[in-house]
Amino acid sequence: MPGRLPLCVSSRLDALPASLRDHVERVRDIGRLLAQRHGLDAELVDLGLAAHDLARALDGGELIERSKAIGIAPSAIERRLPVLLHGPLAAAELESDGLTDTQVLDSVRWHTTGHRGMGDVAKVVFLADKLDPQKAHRYPYLDEIDELAQESLDAALLRFLELSTADHLSQGRLIHPESIEFRNQLLLEK
Ligand SMILES: [Fe+2]
Ligand SMILES: [Fe+2]
Repeated sequence: MPGRLPLCVSSRLDALPASLRDHVERVRDIGRLLAQRHGLDAELVDLGLAAHDLARALDGGELIERSKAIGIAPSAIERRLPVLLHGPLAAAELESDGLTDTQVLDSVRWHTTGHRGMGDVAKVVFLADKLDPQKAHRYPYLDEIDELAQESLDAALLRFLELSTADHLSQGRLIHPESIEFRNQLLLEK
């Protein structure tokens, strides 16, 4: 079983809205199984998942202000879609609270967009977050991603990025450049 969470995570987790805490609990369960399946450090995965949405309840203005205050300069896409800042902001705030594990910090930082060179802990955090059954309406292809994730994290990530990007394109939405870079990296390494 995962160990106790550091206070900088548990105190902020307890303060989140109940629906968000429930999402975090569901994805911690999913992450535990994926970590086991792929022989990864379950405690690092669990800490990443416990911390990944600590800034998710902030509104757009707060996300921008707190990001600037901690030294993150929002890009044009992030200014338009401030929700994309909730991972980078949570990671920066945890780092300033004394959390030092780079695998955990990266998993929090990149859980929304993905990122080139993301390690296995961050890959599991990214996938577990998407595999919350309550996101099936947003990602109707979750069963396929879940099946792929049992065999290969990279195959599941690549397929998720293909399908979600196609969806963004068909809806005329902005796409974060790191998601494209990450997808290209996965494709080049295939
Ligand atoms: Fe998130
Ligand atoms: Fe999440």
